[in-house]
Amino acid sequence: MRKNIMIDCDPGHDDVMAILLALGNPDFFNVIGVTTVAGNQTLEKVTLNLRRLYTYLGMSTPAASGAAKPIARELVLGDLVHGESGLDGWDFPEPTFELDSTNAVTFMREKIMNCDGKVTLVPVGPLTNIGLLLATFPEVIEKIEAISIMGGSIYAGNMTPDAEFNIMVDPEAAWIVFKSGIPVIMSGLEVTHAGGITHEEIASLCAKDGRVSKMCGDLLKFYVSYHDGVGYASFPLHDVCAVMYLLKPEIFTYQDLQVEIDCNDGPTLGRTAADLREWMKYENPNTRVLLDVDREKFIEVLFEAFTNLDVMCAQ
Ligand code: BDR
Ligand code: CA
Repeated sequence: MRKNIMIDCDPGHDDVMAILLALGNPDFFNVIGVTTVAGNQTLEKVTLNLRRLYTYLGMSTPAASGAAKPIARELVLGDLVHGESGLDGWDFPEPTFELDSTNAVTFMREKIMNCDGKVTLVPVGPLTNIGLLLATFPEVIEKIEAISIMGGSIYAGNMTPDAEFNIMVDPEAAWIVFKSGIPVIMSGLEVTHAGGITHEEIASLCAKDGRVSKMCGDLLKFYVSYHDGVGYASFPLHDVCAVMYLLKPEIFTYQDLQVEIDCNDGPTLGRTAADLREWMKYENPNTRVLLDVDREKFIEVLFEAFTNLDVMCAQ
């Protein structure tokens, strides 16, 4: 039986790669919906990006847009990395794909409750929509198998020394998710930096004929330009990890840990504080923290998905 997933995202370059990995494996994933949330850019822009992507692909899933700002804070954008549109680097057509008219939170509730079997949520942006869903419609909790997030880090952040962007933007929403009792799989910065892509691999995508591989190459060229000069040997495709783990868990290493979210204003706001004390034994630690991945295998599986889509979306 295929795995039912719902992706909540703020596209965003790596968000798009994560969606494509799921769509490019239709025998494995049943994508029951995609929802958008403000983060990398405004809600309006990231939603437009999803509609443009689907129009370009000529394929789609049910989709809806959600929260325009975090639950209790002002929005901070990730536009330095993702550009003015939130998805700079490729000329997308004007969108013809239309969203469901319902708000993402109601949309998610309906899709989850009506799904035949359990659903795995894959949030790869700030956790606002998911926090609101769990607080508004707690009846969904027993139908959710796991929440595979991109967010957090156990050693060092990217927004501040301690906090990663997705968690930092809406720590209150993250708090609700990590306290929900639903198993969380956390693709934090440790694993996302282990699964990076090189300049050579991006160039190889640009050189392909397939319309999806080529688009990904150009998008990634823009995306990694922000990190150029930092001296990385490869560039993190953060959000892809949250989907990849569901598809190929055997290529990852992880530790099951108790993780708490720091919602206190101050220097450690947004920290995913993992209890790393070896002698602490939790009966049910709330989080599977992914730590490392076989980078070459990771890229191979991702590129295979792009190639599948080159065929599926040929026009
Ligand atoms: C996260 O922030 C965003 O810029 C990316 O899309 C990813 O979800 C990485 O910190
Ligand atoms: Ca994202």
